[in-house]
Parts: sequence; structure tokens; C-alpha cells
Amino acid sequence: MRLGVNIDHIATLRSQRGTPYPDPVDAVPIVELAGANGITCHIRIDRRHITERDVRLIRDITKTSLNVELCTDPEIVNFICGIKPHHACLVPEREGEQTTEGGLDLSKNKEDIKKTISILKDKGISVTLFVEPDTFIMETAKLLGVDAVELNTKSYCETSHIEKEIKRLKDASIVAHELGLEVHAGHGLEYHNMKGILSVPHIVELNIGHSIISRAVFTGLEEAVKTMLTLIRNE
Ligand code: PXP
Repeated sequence: MRLGVNIDHIATLRSQRGTPYPDPVDAVPIVELAGANGITCHIRIDRRHITERDVRLIRDITKTSLNVELCTDPEIVNFICGIKPHHACLVPEREGEQTTEGGLDLSKNKEDIKKTISILKDKGISVTLFVEPDTFIMETAKLLGVDAVELNTKSYCETSHIEKEIKRLKDASIVAHELGLEVHAGHGLEYHNMKGILSVPHIVELNIGHSIISRAVFTGLEEAVKTMLTLIRNE
């Protein structure tokens, strides 16, 4: 199981005061030396946290693998094509959202999504779709020609009906795997809800941000990443 650490919340803290610190770029070697498999960051239309400058520098120094989350906005897509991260994860974006609010609606925005996938893939970037854990959506994702799906774990993290949410994740994961899609998962995962997600078959990558950066305030970033890796790899 791979761990991608989402470093956005270092930039959130920076934006809070408009200071040049803390710099998300500085997190990259620490996260990598702690043993994580990749770096994830999300550039939004309003660039309110992660900026172009961040993505450029992060790309330059990342030695593992860089996964950039983005929406289908043409200017952002064009910028990311120039950066050429290893992976791009398409996510929905609503102006003013606090964080990504759900998986992509593949029925509503299909043409936009399809076009964006083909632009990114033409540049040699592997593409993931952030989607709800629903078997029908896995089939649509396959038809769109992506390499992977990232299953949204928000409902699993917030529900009191854990078994039901685990079943949704398992069903979706099994179908995605059968279709030849790589399965990732993320959103809201933290140190105390790892057990359930690790029981879902075929997931090869977790993308985790808020809980790791929050813990880092007390333990330091290296320790926070190492503790998460221990949970992921020893379950
Ligand atoms: N995956 C995706 C697609 C996301 O948008 C986010 C949040 O930016 C995450 C994973 C990480 O979520 P969290 O910060 O809750 O761990």
C-alpha cells in the first residue's frame, strides 16, 4: 500500500497570515525521507493555498512521485500540462468550498472530463478520477479511459454505519479492479479510522493530508508520516 501525503494544509496555514512561511515546498524532503511514496497537492482556480510557484518548485524537487489534484479549468489544465507531474487527479471544484465536497459527477460533466483526460494523457500524465464508491461510476470511469480511480472516503469517515460504507467501498473497489483500473482512496482518513479502509481489497494507494499535517504540529512532520506508514503497513 502506497501513501501519498497531501501537503496543502501547510499552504493553508501560510495563507492564513499571508506570510511566506510555512512553505509547502520545505515539506517535500521531510515527507520523502520519512518513507512516504509520493507528494500530493491541489491547485485551485483561485490559487488560495497552493500556487503556481509551489507546484513548479515541488515538481523540481520531488524524488518520489508527484500527484496534482485539479479541476477541468482550461488554464489550470494547461499549466499542469507544462509541469508534467507523474499523476493528475481530477476533482470537482465549487467556488468558496472549504475542501473538495464529493466525487466527480461523471454524468453531468462528461464531455469536459473526457476532453481534460485526453489533454493530460497526451502529455504522458497518468490520470485518476476522484469519484464516489459506486459500481456504475467505476464502469463510466473505465469508459473514459483513465488509469485509476480514487474512491472518496468522506462518507466512510463521517458515518455511524461503518459496515454499510465499507461494503460500498469494497463493491466499487472489486469492480474497478476487475475493469483493470488502479484503486486509490482518500479524504478524511486519519489515524483512528485506518482499520476499516485497510479491509477493502485492491486499494494500492491512500492520499492523506489534514490528519497528518495536524499531527505534525505536535510531533513534527517526519514522525507524523512515519506513524501513519506504520499503521498502513502493519495492519
Ligand atoms: N483526495 C482528494 C481527491 C482530496 O481532494 C483530498 C483533500 O484535498 C484528499 C484526498 C485528502 O483529504 P484529507 O486532507 O482529508 O486527508
